[in-house]
Amino acid sequence: MSTSTNQTTRKLADGNEIPLLGLGVWQVPDGPDCVKAVRWALELGYRHIDTAQAYRNEGSVGKALKESGVDRDDVFITTKFLPRAKDPVAELEQSLRRLGLDHVDLYIVHWPEGGPTWMWPGMERARELGYARSIGVSNFSETELASVAGIADVMPVVDQVNFNPTAFRRVLLDACQRRDVVLEAYSPLGTGSLLSDATVGAIAARVGRTPAQVLLRWCVQRGVPVLSKSTHRDRIEANGRIFDFALTDEDFSQLDALDRTGGTGNGLEQPWW
Ligand SMILES: NC(=O)c1ccc[n+]([C@@H]2O[C@H](COP(=O)([O-])OP(=O)(O)OC[C@H]3O[C@@H](n4cnc5c(N)ncnc54)[C@H](OP(=O)(O)O)[C@@H]3O)[C@@H](O)[C@H]2O)c1
Repeated sequence: MSTSTNQTTRKLADGNEIPLLGLGVWQVPDGPDCVKAVRWALELGYRHIDTAQAYRNEGSVGKALKESGVDRDDVFITTKFLPRAKDPVAELEQSLRRLGLDHVDLYIVHWPEGGPTWMWPGMERARELGYARSIGVSNFSETELASVAGIADVMPVVDQVNFNPTAFRRVLLDACQRRDVVLEAYSPLGTGSLLSDATVGAIAARVGRTPAQVLLRWCVQRGVPVLSKSTHRDRIEANGRIFDFALTDEDFSQLDALDRTGGTGNGLEQPWW
């Protein structure tokens, strides 16, 4: 695979750097569990946290960041515009208030509800105002990215999608590469369901790593930033140890063959809106 074993960040088209591993906090309730998970991650060396307006836990992310004592400028914070609202700028102002920050590193459209382009001028405005250093999208297909490209002054630099060996969206990955959009992987462990997969387990046994580490490595070794979620300190720690081993080409072929999407160019199988 293309990238070196211990590369830990990737440059975005706008020049900003995204850490390849991030902690995601979807389904972590606002409050002590979320604060603890984010604090542990920061203590253990994570420098990338992924939240969203829809997760309703931005307040806990901000609290944990502040309590951690880690320099704000050393941490890459993403939040997502909930497209059931109308105005990306007004919603980001609210997010920043909850996070206790004056900007986020990445602001992305959570999904293309109502079409892929109506919100993009507002996303660009949020960037112009300095509320977001980078802007992007999530759950967008190659066709939806093309629609945004047709109207954008500033292209999305990220498309965050469901991406793991059973959802190996080759066509979307290639389309992103052609447009200089970084595909970012969510649900790399299949929200936990891939941890008991036999192929993953056999490779994990061979390399002396956990199934979660193999699945996360499958992303970062190809230069794909990856978000994994855990509320357990020991798992957050183990999931962070993915920059000191490598999968072989044979491991990649076996894992890639688990794809059940036909290498799709879609961002997801079934819209939920
Ligand atoms: N843009 C979008 O629409 C979208 C959609 C989905 C997800 N995301 C982002 O991607 C992040 C990750 O995706 P995800 O939450 O679906 O899940 P995931 O990271 O694929 O899997 C998380 C699940 O695996 C368990 N787990 C994690 N590490 C483990 C380990 N080492 N051993 C055993 N179990 C382990 C977790 O349990 P415990 O917590 O109990 O450890 C949790 O149940 C989200 O949090 C969110 O930030 C974005």
